[in-house]
Parts: sequence; structure tokens; C-alpha cells
Amino acid sequence: MKDSAMPENHSKRYYIRTFGCQMNEHDSSKMGVMLENMGYLPSESVEDADLLLYNTCTIREKAHHKAISEIGRSQLLKKKNPNLLVGVCGCVAQQEKDSLFEIYPHLDLVFGPDKISKLPFMINSAINGERPLMVELVNSSDGYEFLGDIGRQKFEAGAAFVSIMKGCNCACSYCIVPKVRGREVCRTPLEIMTEINRLVDAGAREVTLLGQNVNAYTSKRSLDTNSEMNFTDLLRMISDSTGIERIRFTSPHPKDVSLELIEEYGKNEKLCPHIHLPIQSGSNKILKAMRRSYTRERYLEIAAGLKTARPGISITTDIIVGFCGEKIEDHHHTLDLMNEVKFDSSFAFKYSPRPDTEAFDFADDVDEGEKERRLADVLDLQSNLSKSANESLVGSAGNCLVYGMDRMKKGLLTGRMPDNRIIHFSGNPDLIGGIVRVRVTGAFRNSLKGELDL
Ligand code: 5AD
Ligand code: SF4
Repeated sequence: MKDSAMPENHSKRYYIRTFGCQMNEHDSSKMGVMLENMGYLPSESVEDADLLLYNTCTIREKAHHKAISEIGRSQLLKKKNPNLLVGVCGCVAQQEKDSLFEIYPHLDLVFGPDKISKLPFMINSAINGERPLMVELVNSSDGYEFLGDIGRQKFEAGAAFVSIMKGCNCACSYCIVPKVRGREVCRTPLEIMTEINRLVDAGAREVTLLGQNVNAYTSKRSLDTNSEMNFTDLLRMISDSTGIERIRFTSPHPKDVSLELIEEYGKNEKLCPHIHLPIQSGSNKILKAMRRSYTRERYLEIAAGLKTARPGISITTDIIVGFCGEKIEDHHHTLDLMNEVKFDSSFAFKYSPRPDTEAFDFADDVDEGEKERRLADVLDLQSNLSKSANESLVGSAGNCLVYGMDRMKKGLLTGRMPDNRIIHFSGNPDLIGGIVRVRVTGAFRNSLKGELDL
């Protein structure tokens, strides 16, 4: 039995399998640092791990199933290595709670996204065979920990992530996020600035501010209730008072896009010319049933405002097809809106009913085949829009943050242009982590080809 956070054997290894969004990726990276602080080392493969954590997503049924079935398969790993600790965290853990222990007797720990700060304690209690379960949501700034003080920050090739708020106070009828991530809690401006300064000192050039409803940020929902800063104030403070060169954020909600934020795009050069602004549907009837609290017209107005403030801005989006009550004309409104905004890229999903959401009680009345057809319409249209938007950029140049070698292993460098487009070009691997000027020489559907612009 042990009573300290340090495992007996310093060469114990951990493996974290992450599903879902950037918030989950970021949580996993923080958990990695916490485990390394405890003496664990990262493991290259699941087979070599002494501790296996599944950081899960439940946004759609498919994501949920994927996580659940992988967790099921870990029983075999545990049979081979009875000392292996297996834990489930993230949104499936938050949703399923103790029932995970019942379905999977081999699990050693289960905890929700708001309990990550308790990881060292839970690991020790799991080592002692106590099967810790921590799934309470923390719905106010008192008692919520943003994991700012865990020491070393992990980031790759100049691009870092900073969480500025958590949770979501919206009530979108299809969405399980408010259920599994709780109410909005914001981080104090001071804590955010301290973390960004630390990242800059460690070599970060770009920061992506994270939150489930990131532009609803208000310091009034942080521990520092006196400072009264909104999201745009925060952006301004970060660009004026830190050495970070590029700022991104994800994901904003259209209802919280203020005129001030739109104007900021025209004034603040550190703010990257890209916004991922989920529309979900182009039909006012469906938007209302989804409780999105904006109209198609309002969204178009925001998009036009952004394009005026920052010519060339890239607007990307999320679309759900086949929501309850969606008729073919509603679907056509979505396609029309895509054509009008000319999204640079989009993620499209078939509606998936989620338990404990308002829409779970609505009739899921668009059949699977029709959902497939509508999804294909959206993907086809987007493919054309993306291709022609990319082609229009051939000949232009921009500052690219080089983040690594291309995944196709063609020996090319890969980076992101300010508008978030991926570009491949040849160059010295020493450039990874730096910002270089690259000229666009070719266009594909999902990426660009380029050359160093010396
Ligand atoms: N079904 C399908 N897609 C969903 N999303 C959220 N909930 C659902 C659901 N129940 C999509 C939305 C959101 C993205 C992260 O996932 O488009 O913006
Ligand atoms: Fe998935 Fe949403 Fe949880 Fe992210 S917040 S992991 S998208 S359910």
C-alpha cells in the first residue's frame, strides 16, 4: 500500500487515449503533465502502459459507442497485465458515472471533466484498490481549478492552447454538453495572462483560447469579479500585454458575437483572420427548434460584418442535418446559406438523439437514408466551396506557423496560414515551430501547396 503521489517504480508508464474536441485534447495534455509530475513516463503504446486513461466524448451516439467499445476491449489488456490501472474520464464518464463500474468490473477509476485536478489523489486511491469515482460538476468559480499551476506546459511547434472558461449555459435542444460539462465558469484574467506569458517564455508563438462557449467569457464568472472584462477586452489585453504573436479561439456561439468583437477583427492584427462559427442550420424554423437563439438573417449579418472588418477572413462552421422536423425545404435553406456565406470549410453531422436533452423527446423523424443524402449534399457543396476558395488564394502569400512534417511522409513541411488553412511546402525541418512567409502555389480541397517566399 502506498500513501504518496509518487509511484514506487519511477519507470511506470501512462497512455491516454483521447476522443472528441480540442478541450479534451487539452485536458489530456494537462493530465499527462500531472502524471509526469508524479513520476510516470509517457508510453508509446497501450500494451506497455501501467496506467491507461480513456478521455471520452459523448457528443453523438457514434462517439459514445466508439469510446465504450474501446474501453470494453481493455479487459483483455488487464487480463494480460493484472497490475494495469484502467480509468475512464471525460464526457462519457460524466454521463455514465458509476454505471461504468457495473458494466466494466475491470475499471479502476472513473472521473468527470471537472475533477481532473484530483487526478493524483485518485491514482493513489486506485493503486490502493479503492476504485475512486468523482463525477460532481463544479458550477461556480469557487472550487473550480483550471490547472494553471501544474508546472511545465506541453505544446508542440509553437502552438499552445489555453483554457479560459469551461461549461455552457446555453440550452440547445440537441446538445448534451451542458449536461456533461456543467455551467460556465471563467478563469481570472490574471491567471490567463500568467499562463500565456509562461507559454511565450517557453517558445509559444500562437495561442488558441479554449472554451465550450468561448466568447461568452466574462470575468464576472471568475474568482475576480471586480475586473468586468468581456471576451473582446480579454483579447485586447492578451494582444497588448503579452508577447504572443497570433491569437485564435474556439468555439464561439453566434449569440455572443458582439459588434465590438467584429470590430476587433478590423483592428487587431494578432487576431488570426479565421472564425469557426457553428451555424447548425440555415432554416429559421429549425434554428428555433434547436433553441439556437439567432436567426439565419442575424448569422448572415455577422458573417458580412466580419468580412467587411477583415477582408479575406475565413469563416468555417458546423452543420447538423436531419434534425427533428427538418423538411427538404429547411435543408435547402441550409444549402442556400452555405452558398451565401461561402464557408471555407465545415464539419457536418447527422443529427444524433442524445439522452437528457430536450430534443430526445422530439420525434427523430428524418430517416437514416434521408439523413445520409442530406449529409452528402452538404459535403459535396462544401467540397466545391472549399476548392474554389483555396484556388482563389494561389499566388498570395502569408505567414505560416510551421508545425511539423506532412502526414503523407512526402518530406514536406506542414503549417497553418493565418486563416487556419493547412499548407505543405518544402523546407528545412529546422523551421518547425517558427513562422515563415509562404507563397501559395496550388490548391486542393482541404489544403494548399506552397513554397517558401524568400
Ligand atoms: N447530433 C449531431 N451533431 C451534434 N453536435 C452537437 N450535438 C449533436 C447531436 N446531438 C454537433 C454540433 C456541434 C458540434 C461540436 O457537434 O454541430 O457544433
Ligand atoms: Fe465531446 Fe463535447 Fe465533451 Fe468535447 S465537450 S469531448 S465535443 S462531448
